[in-house]
Amino acid sequence: MSVSLFGRSLLTLLDYSPEEIQYLLDLSCKLKAEEKSANNGGGKILRRFEGLTLALLFEKRSTRTRCAFETAFGEEGGHPVFLSAADIQLGAKESLEDTARVLGRMFSAIQFRGFKQETAEILAEYSKVPVYNGLTDLYHPTQALADMQTMIENFGEIKGRKLVFAGDGRNNVARSLMVICSKLGVHFTVITPQELMPDDVLRGKCGALASKSGAIISVTSDISAVEGADAIYTDVWVSMGEEDKKEERLRLLSPYQVNQALMDKTGKKETIFLHCLPAVKGEEVTANVIDGPQSRAWDQAENRKHTIKAVMLATLIKDK
Ligand code: CP
Ligand code: NVA
Repeated sequence: MSVSLFGRSLLTLLDYSPEEIQYLLDLSCKLKAEEKSANNGGGKILRRFEGLTLALLFEKRSTRTRCAFETAFGEEGGHPVFLSAADIQLGAKESLEDTARVLGRMFSAIQFRGFKQETAEILAEYSKVPVYNGLTDLYHPTQALADMQTMIENFGEIKGRKLVFAGDGRNNVARSLMVICSKLGVHFTVITPQELMPDDVLRGKCGALASKSGAIISVTSDISAVEGADAIYTDVWVSMGEEDKKEERLRLLSPYQVNQALMDKTGKKETIFLHCLPAVKGEEVTANVIDGPQSRAWDQAENRKHTIKAVMLATLIKDK
């Protein structure tokens, strides 16, 4: 079956089929190999984004996502324009719909990082160009793609592997992992306190997807559920915009810290550790785990660039 993602936005991943996601992951692995070969003198970087423009809208801070979009697009001749919320009207003074219409007349695509998922959806609807969700309060789909690529690099076939997320189970990263795992047949367990469990609507949607892919999706407060995990993932306990919840989160999540004892509880020596970064060492993960031999956090960070380039190529270049 041939896959075409030309003209599509990437907002949640929920509307991408398993074949489309696999296509992006295959393309990303190919792009990574191409880049390594070019860096070793074995090829050249192409100019596939020549003549194209990308608006990078940021309401929240970013290191990896911004750098991945800018380098992936710019190194192939595209022109990325960084626009922070302090620089442009985003729903203030003029409506978001009007801003979207204007951006759509000037840019080939838009990346949005911010608070409301609805903002990304409105940008896509009114700009009529592909919009990429670079993180909202609800989803972080480009991160989930990089995470799956990292698992593929370690395990080859990932269908049937077990990924455990220990931490704030209702945050954007955990939610996007639940979506992508449900689609790809990766078993996914969220270990989190009762207060931070993902909502029933998302669990229902993912449950339906999982019944097609064969994934087992579970949510529990029981730490012993790490047993048999091929990968353990965590993220900050306090996401951007929730700084006032810090004290409560430390209290709720301290028992769920990923430390060597938790890694060892999987019963598998080859279990890898994943983290989207930025990390607060000493809170959600200990330094010896994230800086240790089981950690693949730095590969994940690099894979942000390759997966994001794959998404932009597939959605902006016909017949890619
Ligand atoms: N993982 C991630 O999205 O990192 P940034 O917040 O630095 O973009
Ligand atoms: N859950 C984190 C992810 C950062 C990449 C946040 O939203 O701040």
